[in-house]
Amino acid sequence: MNTKLLKPNKQTYELAKNLINAGEIVAFPTETVYGLGADATNEIAVKKIFEAKGRPNDNPLIVHLGAKEDIKKYVLNINHLEQKIIDLFMPGPISLVLQKNDKIPYVVTAGGETVAIRLPENDIARDFINTCKKPICAPSANTSKRPSPTLAKHVFDDLNGKIPLIIDGGQTEVGIESTVVKVEGNCLYILRPGKISKEELENKLGVKVLSNITQSGIVQSPGTKYTHYKPKCDMILVKTDVIENIKKLYEENTKLGKKVIIFCKKEDKCKFKNMNVVSLGKNSEEASHNLFKMLREYENNDLILAEFIDNGNMVEGLYNRMSKSCSGNII
Ligand code: TXA
Ligand code: MG
Repeated sequence: MNTKLLKPNKQTYELAKNLINAGEIVAFPTETVYGLGADATNEIAVKKIFEAKGRPNDNPLIVHLGAKEDIKKYVLNINHLEQKIIDLFMPGPISLVLQKNDKIPYVVTAGGETVAIRLPENDIARDFINTCKKPICAPSANTSKRPSPTLAKHVFDDLNGKIPLIIDGGQTEVGIESTVVKVEGNCLYILRPGKISKEELENKLGVKVLSNITQSGIVQSPGTKYTHYKPKCDMILVKTDVIENIKKLYEENTKLGKKVIIFCKKEDKCKFKNMNVVSLGKNSEEASHNLFKMLREYENNDLILAEFIDNGNMVEGLYNRMSKSCSGNII
């Protein structure tokens, strides 16, 4: 299959619509990462997503919609707190798990009775969904286990020849995937942290938000038992005595003949003189924006030594992605 990379315009959206209606899959940008979309009501099309990504079929997909009014078409009921989340946070980088109705096939939800709903705020994602006039289920558009794609090139590198079209919207803004939340009883749980933080949810909703993330950064929700975001080389996340430990590990490993690269906070770059070093950004927002792109860019080294960046508003989301990228290799 020939994979087209096209800029977003009317013609591209029309082509995308025709492909989606024909049961094909299309990659598109969102504000978080690129998604790999199919008509969520077409089981055969949805199965193509799992095949193209090599994704285990017990990991459910998020359904992307163009308008708030559409949500009730695909779910059974929406309680007061869920409605408040929709009113205050959508469109935006959040996915809300609700009870599905029979319009959503089980292949989307991995056999479950719930469906994660998301309204992207990125114009290209919305134009694509609104042109298709279909609920679009989409995981991140990477091969399973690889870092999520934040550029059309990343999608192309992973899925060239496997999908007919990638809509090229440039680099995504947030850089890590949406916050996944679920209401149970009167409590709100974060199943996957993202740009919308626990504090922001608590402040705007006035409820206690529980995070079912263990201290090691492992999330207890479907999908999370799998390896994620792994670069091709080894990676160590350094949280304690950062500067000393990175310097020590750099020296030990270069002596062994390994090619080592340091990812650090902008202000710390000058502390690693005469070493291979790049800045992830000045805070957790910038580092989240850059992380997946840099993992792909620098994975031709033997070892990435990454400083954990603990300032800014996206610390939890960033830590979750970094601790998975290094497969829990944290000191
Ligand atoms: O930002 C994002 O969310 C991106 C863009 C493309 O929208 N999508 C994305 O999809 O990250 P994916 O499939 O790579 O990750 C979806 C996550 C998985 O961890 C999955 O287990 C969880 O959401 N999820 C999906 N449906 C769920 C459900 N019904 N209950 C609990 N978790 C669910
Ligand atoms: Mg993913």
